[in-house]
Amino acid sequence: MKKKPLVIVKLGGSAITAKDDSRPEVNAANLERLAGEISEALKGNKFSLFIVHGAGPFGHVPAKKYELNSGLKNAEQVIGVSETHQSMEELNYAVVGTLRKFGIPAIAFQPSVGGILKNGKLIKFSLEVIEKMLEIGLVPVSYGDVLLDLDKGVSILSGDHLVMYLADKLKADRVILVADVPGIFNSDPKKNKDAKIIKELSRNSIHLIKEIGSAKGTDVTGGMKGKLDELLRLADRDIESEIISGFVPGDLKRTLRGERGIGTIIKKDS
Ligand SMILES: Nc1ncnc2c1ncn2[C@@H]1O[C@H](COP(=O)(O)OP(=O)(O)O)[C@@H](O)[C@H]1O
Ligand SMILES: [Mg+2]
Repeated sequence: MKKKPLVIVKLGGSAITAKDDSRPEVNAANLERLAGEISEALKGNKFSLFIVHGAGPFGHVPAKKYELNSGLKNAEQVIGVSETHQSMEELNYAVVGTLRKFGIPAIAFQPSVGGILKNGKLIKFSLEVIEKMLEIGLVPVSYGDVLLDLDKGVSILSGDHLVMYLADKLKADRVILVADVPGIFNSDPKKNKDAKIIKELSRNSIHLIKEIGSAKGTDVTGGMKGKLDELLRLADRDIESEIISGFVPGDLKRTLRGERGIGTIIKKDS
């Protein structure tokens, strides 16, 4: 059987949760619309799909409360590992359920089972299982979470880092990150109404960005800055990625159907 091109999509916490709020709440209406667009794009069976979703308040709030990103320093944090993980499982359950409602053969994929970090970076993941799942047509749905870390006890695996790692290891053909903004701007578009979108970025052109940072709500993984760092690392390995808006109807479907450049493209220097 000929292997289909692999597409990795990250549904950002900013696109599928009420991220500005500290209560864990799914943005069900937007999640449903995105699931509908994915389902339409999958018709025709032209590509394999791996979905990663972010955390929004489901992960960032408990992770911050228990300071999980600075590693395991005291026994009280252990209950926070359990709490953060369960909260992420709840979001994952909602995402997988919504995708299946639209006929997508989604399957939950817990990153904490086979994934191990070393100083915050993935060094091991259940790649063999994923490859088999993709081969039979399943759509694995994984997420950012708190994971065991060989140096720090535990630390946070961001959805963005997971995307970078999987795209590299599985040699993805397309990498699409869906956020609450239509790409990377020269400054935070939520704070500066004159901010201008940058349609293509590579290491040579990052000087075009005057300000890049975190999101309005809690984001322990660096917001847009953390995302760009991961995507530049991916570009170094010659894998291009795109950031698009999760709030403009049709953008995800068009991108999945092959259109390029709807948002910001991050690529290797030419
Ligand atoms: N230069 C910039 N361009 C675009 N977005 C930016 C920039 N600087 C900060 N941001 C913020 O980054 C946020 C997206 O990052 P983040 O909240 O981490 O998304 P996600 O939840 O999808 O990971 C946007 O809501 C925006 O406010
Ligand atoms: Mg983020």
